[in-house]
Amino acid sequence: MPEPGAGLDARLAEYRSRVEAALEALLPSARLHPARLHEAMRYAVLGGGKRLRPALVYAAGELAGAAPEALDAPACAVELIHAYSLVHDDLPAMDDDDLRRGRPTCHRAFGEAMAILAGDALQALAFQALAAAPAPAPPVRLRMVALLARAAGSRGMAGGQALDLLAAGRRLDAAQVEDIHIHKTGALIRASVMLGALAAGAAPQALLDRLDHFAKVVGLAFQIRDDLLDVEGRPEETGKASGQDAAREKATYPAAVGLDAARERLEELVSEALATLAPLGPAAEALRGLALRMAYRRA
Ligand code: IPE
Ligand code: IPE
Ligand code: MG
Ligand code: MG
Ligand code: MG
Repeated sequence: MPEPGAGLDARLAEYRSRVEAALEALLPSARLHPARLHEAMRYAVLGGGKRLRPALVYAAGELAGAAPEALDAPACAVELIHAYSLVHDDLPAMDDDDLRRGRPTCHRAFGEAMAILAGDALQALAFQALAAAPAPAPPVRLRMVALLARAAGSRGMAGGQALDLLAAGRRLDAAQVEDIHIHKTGALIRASVMLGALAAGAAPQALLDRLDHFAKVVGLAFQIRDDLLDVEGRPEETGKASGQDAAREKATYPAAVGLDAARERLEELVSEALATLAPLGPAAEALRGLALRMAYRRA
């Protein structure tokens, strides 16, 4: 783990290499039977991705006092759920996208059936990783498993994805779009922060509540930024096609309120996220930096 005083870039690079190594070790080798499925799983997870959710796990975990070795499993688990959600999100029955992380989407590379199964298997692997982790102690880990399951399920990401699909072609107001965003994207970002904090074992409830609020705000900001990038982003930077949301009449934040109001809402959320961290002082430096990167990312 990096020194607490290290610059943000160095810390994020350290988090990144830590989770890359852990993911590489966790994913079944492409030589293992059934090789084609393992290849598809590895393709979906390795070789791209900003790894922002694992970074949130590490940053929140360090802030709450968790041991680094208690953070690798939750960091991998959230990235595996995320990768699975992207594979399924890109399927023809969902967003029908061809480009992801600058490469053909998983179903484009491996076919739809294998992509569906790769997503299924990645989700299972996420829970396996968390359940079998060497730390923290079993009662804490059980709580973490339950939290991740809730965040991924019908009351979290999968539920938000259902709302997203049901809303296509309909004109929603800002509150309705926020409800979708908080679930489809926010739930896993919130879980990332909370898993890191819970891994500390005994973080004060007031700190957990503060981090939870921070993560909820950042999760919404992240998806508003994603919606803006679909309008103004460059595929060379985002690694995915632009203009897809409008083409599919998606219920995005800019579609509901316009680009200017969407940018204003993003500013408001960033201010709220930073204000939520303010009482934590310099210890929250990494989370502060991550929030800014997530809200103002170009990729
Ligand atoms: C993209 O997430 C999908 C959303 C939830 C908006 P990221 O922008 O974190 O994607 P990667 O992991 O870096 O590819
Ligand atoms: C995806 O939202 C949210 C997920 C749960 C994967 P989007 O559909 O906007 O994500 P991108 O733009 O395809 O990455
Ligand atoms: Mg989608
Ligand atoms: Mg999509
Ligand atoms: Mg998008």
